[in-house]
Amino acid sequence: MSRNGPAGGLFPPGNALCVPRVIGHRGAAATAPENTLASFTQAKNQGATWVELDVQLSADGVPVVFHDDGLERTSNGHGPLTAQTLTALRRLDAGSWFGPAFAGEGIPTLAEAVATIAALGMGLNLEVKLPVGAPPEQAERTARLALAEATALWPAHLPTPLVSSFHPAALAEAARRSVWPRGLLLERLPADWRQRAERLGCVSLHVAATTLTASQAFAVRESGLALLAYTVNHPARAERLWQWGVDGVFSDAPGLLTTLPFA
Ligand code: G3P
Ligand code: MG
Repeated sequence: MSRNGPAGGLFPPGNALCVPRVIGHRGAAATAPENTLASFTQAKNQGATWVELDVQLSADGVPVVFHDDGLERTSNGHGPLTAQTLTALRRLDAGSWFGPAFAGEGIPTLAEAVATIAALGMGLNLEVKLPVGAPPEQAERTARLALAEATALWPAHLPTPLVSSFHPAALAEAARRSVWPRGLLLERLPADWRQRAERLGCVSLHVAATTLTASQAFAVRESGLALLAYTVNHPARAERLWQWGVDGVFSDAPGLLTTLPFA
């Protein structure tokens, strides 16, 4: 069963999933502050056709695009992101830490990110991100509010987004709230990967590239699930993963990969 056509598209059976060989990770996180509108634009300029982003909730329940639990690394804020209201988050600078050229770049709301990505004509992998140790209720609420907003805003002419999460409760809630396909995020492939994916109705597994082996990749592909690997910033590594049958890779530096012969 072949899923990758001549154009590199992905066609698993029974769903409309079609993702490319290269997905910009948090936009183009190697050359722009991650998960910002500037980062998504850079990914597009580097030839990426899809981007991945991380969505969490502000203290007042607004979906915002941010990776870490804490604000310190990628903004001038302090403490947990989820403890701040949208108004407080709006005051933060999420660009200066990366470089002066990005000073004033804000933490986008999911609505702003979706509008930008759609205007760029790109595809979207929406990762529902939870703080470490978050309970199922928090995962469900984050997925519910993020999906409500994203599905209302996503234009019909663009490819159907792919929802992903490390948190099973987020994926289960996503299944109840939308028809968008889902991918299960894993740091390494567990023995029961097939059952986990099936239980959650996932169409893809997204696995850390550093933990993945050729035989695992083969087994996942044989199962009919799509396989994506994160985070891949070196061309030779991407080529090897594609040879193993990995359908697509998340990259901080999509421009290094989109020009490769098999991309
Ligand atoms: O979705 C792929 C990748 O982003 C998962 O890990 O920590 O970068 O969100 P992380
Ligand atoms: Mg992510």
